[in-house]
Amino acid sequence: MKKIAVLPGDGIGPEVIKQAIKALNAITEIYGHEFKFEEGLIGAAAIDETGNPFPEETEELCKSSDAILFGAIGDPKYDNDPSAKVRPEQGLLKMRKELGLFGNIRPITTYESLADMSPLKNHVINGVDFVVFRELTGGIYFGEPRGRSENGETAFDTCVYSKFEVRRIAKLAFEAAEKRQGRLTLVDKANVLASSRLWRETVTEMAKDYPNVELDFMFVDNAAMKIIKNPAGFDVVVTENMFGDILTDEASVISGSLGLLPSASVGNSISLFEPIHGSYPQVAGQNKANPVGAILSAAMLLDYAFDMTKEARVIEEAVSSAINQGISTEDLNTNGGYGTNEVGDFIASQINTKVEA
Ligand code: IPM
Ligand code: MN
Repeated sequence: MKKIAVLPGDGIGPEVIKQAIKALNAITEIYGHEFKFEEGLIGAAAIDETGNPFPEETEELCKSSDAILFGAIGDPKYDNDPSAKVRPEQGLLKMRKELGLFGNIRPITTYESLADMSPLKNHVINGVDFVVFRELTGGIYFGEPRGRSENGETAFDTCVYSKFEVRRIAKLAFEAAEKRQGRLTLVDKANVLASSRLWRETVTEMAKDYPNVELDFMFVDNAAMKIIKNPAGFDVVVTENMFGDILTDEASVISGSLGLLPSASVGNSISLFEPIHGSYPQVAGQNKANPVGAILSAAMLLDYAFDMTKEARVIEEAVSSAINQGISTEDLNTNGGYGTNEVGDFIASQINTKVEA
């Protein structure tokens, strides 16, 4: 029996996570696995109930589980209040840090039937298939010192990296490149930042251990441009925390909707799986959110955390077949589309037929 900590979080988190669980339940019925789901509080929902965006009970639940399935975090009531002492996002950052989730893996793929939904031209998105390895527990997100000067007139953040931190994420990226097309791009700003020069030096030192991987370097501004101009040119990208945050939002629209993409956050022990979209409060509770990112995150969970590759592929195929048949939410469907629940039900039913077939 595997225990999965379920953290629905804020906004559309709960409704998309419900669909991911439907998919996992369909898998359990077919393959006879046993998953035990246990819910925990995080984000604004946790602040409302406990005052803490990542309560101790949630941390304990995560640490005693075999994997974590996470929805989204964020609430507009905090976004426009720079003086708020506790913020939902602190819960996410604290969770990443406490659980040692130093690597965030974000695959970018496209669906032929959605080509016209992409803001990019068809020939540009043709064959796009790359994966970003984003460092997740270092850099400017966590560096000290940070804060305000005494008179409040200046503010500062610190971007700090150690070779140790660079090595452990780069190792995952090199290994992924070995299994893919053998190309790794380090994205940095080594023409300006000392921390980026440390990344380059460290990754260059490592490259000799991966003779089958061709390593190249790209400045982040240039990478932002290339992701739009020639996204099919990337295989594996490795980068620091903030650059990875920005570039993956940019890359996510290539497929046609931010709502499609899953991610895995990994470390030394437990892993966490979440759609890369945010809490999208504008449509929360309206049965409009795209559940595909969450459902594909469940597939990544099976694959990465439980080594259930076959089961993961079945979910992915069920998702593709829903998309190809036009069973998708309004973000992908010009004639209004289907509800979150309906898409979730359809994908679960496809999982059954995929296996029967
Ligand atoms: C993400 C999000 C988070 C981040 C926010 C919510 C703190 O944008 O997971 O990409 O910046 O890491
Ligand atoms: Mn982000």
